[in-house]
Order: sequence, then structure tokens, then C-alpha cells
Amino acid sequence: MTARGLEGVIAGTTQLSSITDGVLTYRGITIDELTAHASYEEVVHLLLFGTLPTRAELDALRQRLSDYRPLPAGLLSILRGVPRDAVPIDTLRTAISALGFYEQRPSDTSREVSLDKAIRLIAQVPTIVAAIERLRRGLEPVSPPEATDTAHAFLLMLKGTAPDEVEVEAMNKILVLHADHEFNASTFAARVAAATLADMHAAVTAAVATLKGPLHGGANAAVMAMLQEIGDVEAVEPYVRAKLARKERVMGFGHRVYKHGDPRAKWLREMSRRLSERSGEPKWYQMSARMEEVMRRAKGLFPNVDFYAATVYHYLGIPSDLMTPVFATSRISGWTAHILEQYADNRLIRPRAEYTGPTSQPWVPIEERG
Ligand SMILES: CC(C)(COP(=O)(O)OP(=O)(O)OC[C@H]1O[C@@H](n2cnc3c(N)ncnc32)[C@H](O)[C@@H]1OP(=O)(O)O)[C@@H](O)C(=O)NCCC(=O)NCCS
Repeated sequence: MTARGLEGVIAGTTQLSSITDGVLTYRGITIDELTAHASYEEVVHLLLFGTLPTRAELDALRQRLSDYRPLPAGLLSILRGVPRDAVPIDTLRTAISALGFYEQRPSDTSREVSLDKAIRLIAQVPTIVAAIERLRRGLEPVSPPEATDTAHAFLLMLKGTAPDEVEVEAMNKILVLHADHEFNASTFAARVAAATLADMHAAVTAAVATLKGPLHGGANAAVMAMLQEIGDVEAVEPYVRAKLARKERVMGFGHRVYKHGDPRAKWLREMSRRLSERSGEPKWYQMSARMEEVMRRAKGLFPNVDFYAATVYHYLGIPSDLMTPVFATSRISGWTAHILEQYADNRLIRPRAEYTGPTSQPWVPIEERG
């Protein structure tokens, strides 16, 4: 018996994150504890090194991330050459692949070199995403600020002005919540690539390619597009009911693993509510809350991480088609940690397929076909 979509299949072991009885943990610490208390940099340390950092370790990691944030001049030239109307997640995928050119040991998969590449990628992806957005708007990229945390640095590089405390807190929580998620599709793709002993940049490129799809990382952009199409709170229920009647999917709902609700969603709902109150545009949150209620009644489905993330991103001034790249600015920590874990105890990932095509077919010469 094959498991369609590998549902329920345990495809390997990990010590990075777990989803047990609907509770998500990173190295045994619940996502609720981490979202309430941790900086993203503490989570990066937890994922890459296995422990929460001491003060000295955290300071050292912050400094290293800050040092690594600037992009090679060659990469900036590549970004400047990208067509203005390119889809941002495609540009990010190309940029990460191209970043590998600037590594001194591009094909080296040793722990020491790969860990250094991992930290550099975690530092550089936010810089790339901010630069992609500015360049396509005809603006110059903003140089990375020194000695600031990722949340602050990213928002500053994106907008060109210093973010306020509420925005930084929301961005930090977004980064913590999206950092890792067991064997999700993009992480699994990264591990499959890493298991061939392809290098860090190759494996992360496979992950970004996989994140693009609307059934995975692309759902947040689809949610915002849907809310914009609906337009106001009163139109939510008829829209959802008509969509369900046509047997179409409502983006941002349902999950392969969480069948009783995604533990990350409540944090994002609260952030969306808070940001909506100061935005002058409360309707996006109000429409989302109404949609959650209608989907629960009509289909028994709960919002996943992407549903309220869409409005949080919107309130932070992040355009819809940049939402999936912003997801990647955080998930890069999980991808790289999984790639390191794969290298540390590697075996090629090569499952079998059940053949369902025709059998015992004779060879027919080309003149006799038709
Ligand atoms: C995430 C997702 C791909 C998981 O899919 P899956 O585990 O393969 O679930 P299934 O496709 O087997 O769906 C099970 C049932 O729920 C329904 N369902 C699942 N998600 C749904 C959604 N978003 N809208 C409407 N119905 C949905 C399916 O139609 C199916 O109903 P049925 O049994 O009446 O046919 C799926 O829920 C989905 O497409 N969600 C929307 C995209 C999204 O938000 N992705 C981000 C994930 S974090």
C-alpha cells in the first residue's frame, strides 16, 4: 500500500522540532514558550547548536549575523539585472543559488564549512529579500545596519526608515513562529538534496523552489489576494460558501498534520488584531476573523500558520507577493539546521515507487505505430 502524499509516513529522525498531539516544539521547548519569550537569534542558536545561548554565545551570534549581512557586490549586480516584474520568490531562489558562487569552498559539506555557510545564509536572506523589494520599486537597497537583531534590520532595510517597537516585536514573533516545522515539504526537499551530499546552497535552493507552491509557502499570498478580492466583512460568508460548494479550497485553512488547529495561528491572530487597531484598516483582520468562524462552522477546518500571517505581513507593509520570501527569511534557519543534521548522519534518501503503468508491452517499430 502506498501512502498518498506520504501521509503519516515517518521518513526519518530529527532532534530539531516535533509535532506531538498538536503541540509544536523546537528541541523540546514549546512554540508558545518561545514565541512569548525568545528572540529569533536565540531560536537560531537553539536550532543550529542544540541549546539556548548563554549571554556570551548570543552576543557572539548576533555579531556574526551582523557581520555577514552585507551581500557580495556580484550578487547585487545579479539582482539589479532581474526584470522588474519577476516574481520575488523566483528572484530569491535564483539569488540563493547564485550566492554559492561567492563561497570559498562551494562544494564542501563538512560540518565546519557548512555551519559557517548556514549562518551566512541566515544573515543574508533578509538582506536579499529587502533588496528585491526595493529594486523592483526602483529604489536603492539599504545597507544592513550594524549590531541590530534580524527583525529590526529586516524592516529597516525593507522600508528605509526605522521600525517602531510594535512592528519589531511582531516581526520577531513571525520569525520565531516560522523557523522550523519538522518534515514540511520544503524542509524535506532540502534533506533529499543534502542526502545526495549536494552542498548547502544547492539544498537550500531546492527548499526555496518547493516553498513556492500555493499548497505550502505560497498560501499566505493567496490568502491576502482572496481577502482583497472579497473586499468587505459582509461578503465573507457568501464567498466562502460558494467556494466550498464548488469544492474549491479556501487558502490558509487545513493542514496535513494539525487536524484540530495549528498552534501558531493564535499568536498570529493576536498580532493581526493588535496591528489592525493602529492601522486604520481594521477590515482585513475583521474579515479574517469572520472567515475563521465560517470555515469552522461549514467545514470543521481551522486556520493554519499562513492565514493570519497574511494580514500581519500586510499591516507590516509587506506586499502579497513578498510574503513567501519573508516566510523564507525565517525558515532559512530551519532548512539549514536540517541540512546540517542530515549531513551529520547521512544516508541517501531514495524510496521506491509502486508501478501502475502497462506491463508486457511489445516493442513496435516506428513504421508500424499509429
Ligand atoms: C494544507 C493542505 C494541502 C493539506 O492537505 P491534505 O492533508 O492533503 O488534506 P486533504 O487534501 O486530504 O483534505 C482533507 C479534506 O479537507 C478538505 N480541505 C482541506 N483543506 C481545505 C481547504 N483549505 N479548503 C477547503 N477544503 C479543504 C479537502 O477538500 C478534503 O475534504 P473531503 O474529505 O470532503 O474531500 C490543504 O489543507 C490545503 O490545500 N490547504 C489550503 C492551502 C494552505 O493553506 N496551505 C498552507 C499549509 S500550512
